Amino acid sequence: MPRAPIFGPTYHEMLYPETLPASLRKQAEAARANELDAANLFNITWKAPDNTVRHILLPRELTGVEANIIVLVGHEFPSGSHKVGPAYATLLEGELADEIRPDESTIIGPSTGNFGIGVAYIARLKGYPAVVIMPEQMSAERYQRIRDYGGRLDLTPGSESDVILVLERAEEYKKDPRNKVLAQFELLPNYRFHRYVTGGSVLQVARAYGNGRVAAFVAAPGSAGTLATGDEIKTRFPDATICALEPRECSTLFNNGRGTHRIEGIGDKMVTLIHNVLTTDYVMLIHDDDCVIGLELLQRQQALVERVLHLRPGALHFLHDVFGISGVCNILGAMRASRHLGLRRQDNVVTIATDGFDRYPSVLQDLERRTGALTEAMLGDRFDQIFRGGTSAEILDVRSRGEKQRLFSSKEATWTRFGYSPSYLESMKSQSFWNCEYEKIRQVDAALSRARPS
Ligand SMILES: Cc1ncc(COP(=O)(O)O)c(C=O)c1O
Repeated sequence: MPRAPIFGPTYHEMLYPETLPASLRKQAEAARANELDAANLFNITWKAPDNTVRHILLPRELTGVEANIIVLVGHEFPSGSHKVGPAYATLLEGELADEIRPDESTIIGPSTGNFGIGVAYIARLKGYPAVVIMPEQMSAERYQRIRDYGGRLDLTPGSESDVILVLERAEEYKKDPRNKVLAQFELLPNYRFHRYVTGGSVLQVARAYGNGRVAAFVAAPGSAGTLATGDEIKTRFPDATICALEPRECSTLFNNGRGTHRIEGIGDKMVTLIHNVLTTDYVMLIHDDDCVIGLELLQRQQALVERVLHLRPGALHFLHDVFGISGVCNILGAMRASRHLGLRRQDNVVTIATDGFDRYPSVLQDLERRTGALTEAMLGDRFDQIFRGGTSAEILDVRSRGEKQRLFSSKEATWTRFGYSPSYLESMKSQSFWNCEYEKIRQVDAALSRARPS
């Protein structure tokens, strides 16, 4: 049977949407008014309609450090987070390999939320039924979004740090060949999307600041897709430092710790298969409630923060709605990394705000229930602790051979359970494995160009 045409952007077009035909770009921009218009696939990019990478530069008064802290802003992606990119890339590569077919396949998204939202969204635009497997204790807004896109929810016990149960449930779905699992923790389109599209965008944005280089990239891994950005940065700037953040309460990469925590989307109690640990230089711990209260400060208590920092009223308004909890974790990590590395005024530290505030009002209501209304005096005290805090004891250098071996062993312990062979896992210990996977982008783009309706 002839295959239905496959539509959507190539990797190259996601990084350079300005190369799309003008009429298509216009159509995509108009589609923003209707989320469910399939032309929104062409809005899967970090770039705004004026072709600048969506980002903010944090004020030095807020960061308290000399280096420039640049944050790529993810909430403007279709479906509200950049996780739609890996969802799209994984589904697309499945279609091109003829493993995913309209009228036959059901798309399964194992997730803690944003990837699942992305999967439900992309499946809807492309006309596939979708099931999202996720833990039952994530924010209420996440479930609603998935339902709104027509996705079915299959909830597993626990919270963010119980993702292993999600993976086990996904294994059950694999038994039916009509189910196609977009396995973000294992499949390399996630790596390809972030190394090429996010990495390329970071390099572009850094050119406009300081010395134009990237001194450090900081991100808290869930699937560790976003961390692949570091591979692209290191190709261009081999001396750049890549820092992975974890909740202090679930310090798996740091010291094999495995607790529950409140930073949705990260800290999944494992070294994911697609995490290239070779290029991770440091692991840093961030206290989960610092991120939740930090979000309260940046989202609902901006006037207080402005007073504490002697900023004019409204000076921080541009931060409104930009952060979710993991975004706050990332900026705290960026500030602490910058201090730890002794970075100076010309240096650029880049990080990511994966999603925005729209999926966390319920989390701040919960904070109020847990702590009672926080008084201005309490919040003022917390500001210093959160935004100027962190100690070197919470930063681990993982560049040594011994640390790499520890992380490899942790990865092996998880993934041999899911059927990955020792030889495949061994091959991942070489950078050439990752570079070969990256090179596949050219074949994918060429195959998509052939398969698309002209
Ligand atoms: C809110 C949030 N932050 C951070 C991440 C981590 O991103 P990655 O999976 O690319 O490591 C996720 C992943 O789902 C997320 O949803």
